[in-house]
Amino acid sequence: MTLRDVVYKDSVKFILSGGKGGVGKTSCAGAIAVLSARYGFRTLVLSTDPAHSLSDSFDQDLSGGEVIPIKGFDNLWGMEINTEKGMQQFQDIIGDGAAGPEAQMAANLMGDMTGMSPPGSDEAMAFGKILEFIEDSSYDRVIFDTAPTGHTLKLLELPDLLDSWLGKMLTLRQRLSSMMGGLRSMFGGGNQDEDNSWEMIQQTKDKIRAARIELSDPDTTQFIVVMIPEAMAVFETQRLLANLDTWHIPATNMVVNQLIPPNPSCMFCTKRYEMQQTNLKDIRDLFSDIDITEVPLFDGEIRGLEELSRLGMILIGDSEDET
Ligand SMILES: Nc1ncnc2c1ncn2[C@@H]1O[C@H](COP(=O)(O)OP(=O)(O)OP(=O)(O)O)[C@@H](O)[C@H]1O
Ligand SMILES: [Mg+2]
Repeated sequence: MTLRDVVYKDSVKFILSGGKGGVGKTSCAGAIAVLSARYGFRTLVLSTDPAHSLSDSFDQDLSGGEVIPIKGFDNLWGMEINTEKGMQQFQDIIGDGAAGPEAQMAANLMGDMTGMSPPGSDEAMAFGKILEFIEDSSYDRVIFDTAPTGHTLKLLELPDLLDSWLGKMLTLRQRLSSMMGGLRSMFGGGNQDEDNSWEMIQQTKDKIRAARIELSDPDTTQFIVVMIPEAMAVFETQRLLANLDTWHIPATNMVVNQLIPPNPSCMFCTKRYEMQQTNLKDIRDLFSDIDITEVPLFDGEIRGLEELSRLGMILIGDSEDET
């Protein structure tokens, strides 16, 4: 499946753009968002990178922690996920606020007793958002501009981690409440209010399961690996693909970005050009089962709608202008 097929496929609801730092993840996410919206999909582009640059890419402030309409479109929205806000929402989802002090105690004990602390806040809240948007039918498509590899791997690991953490919390909670019940009957405590925290946690576990199914379905989800033709990026890409495979996240397309054109009159350029071409050949050999899209190095930065559109045209193979 070419990148064009992915972008224009109706069933594809989630596209993630990921890879090493600085290779062009945000630019590709932005360009694919623009293509998707122009095609008619109600599109949301989300940054899960704590060091946001989606605002810079669109040349519009998307940092308010809310979904913001992107200028020039009536079907494109953007958001840089706000860590603090997101974390609070995530805690609400996992039942911290809703379940009250007992669950908090269980969570604290869980950390002490099992050595298993609650998941990291950045990843957790980003995942909370993914859960939220997976259920949200206001968008046909959600595009994730992810953080550099290590951070994103932690995010993708989260469903498993959370599932088992919530499972342990449930068990402990059950034990605690029967202990509390025992104490109440001994000391004649009054009726306790109905407690729905158990259900909340169970529901969250169900949502996580549903998300895992969606994220592992190649008709619904595609992780686009962005890289540059340099040895370090090749190694990191291998690691990323291996991990995506472990978590059953479909990744069949790769973008090799920032290719420099041949320029025989410049020795420096020729050296770089040759280095890149050698690496590009290795990349083709190594990732022979992956569809590769080549993107040239632009003569300037990729900022604003015009440049994002230009990149988009190249991504879907429609460009005559390959500077
Ligand atoms: N093909 C290209 N030609 C010229 N400039 C490019 C190209 N691709 C990306 N850039 C520029 O390189 C910089 C990094 O790109 P971008 O922000 O998309 O990468 P990233 O992988 O998201 O980086 P980070 O890891 O910091 O989030 C930006 O200034 C962008 O405009
Ligand atoms: Mg980025």
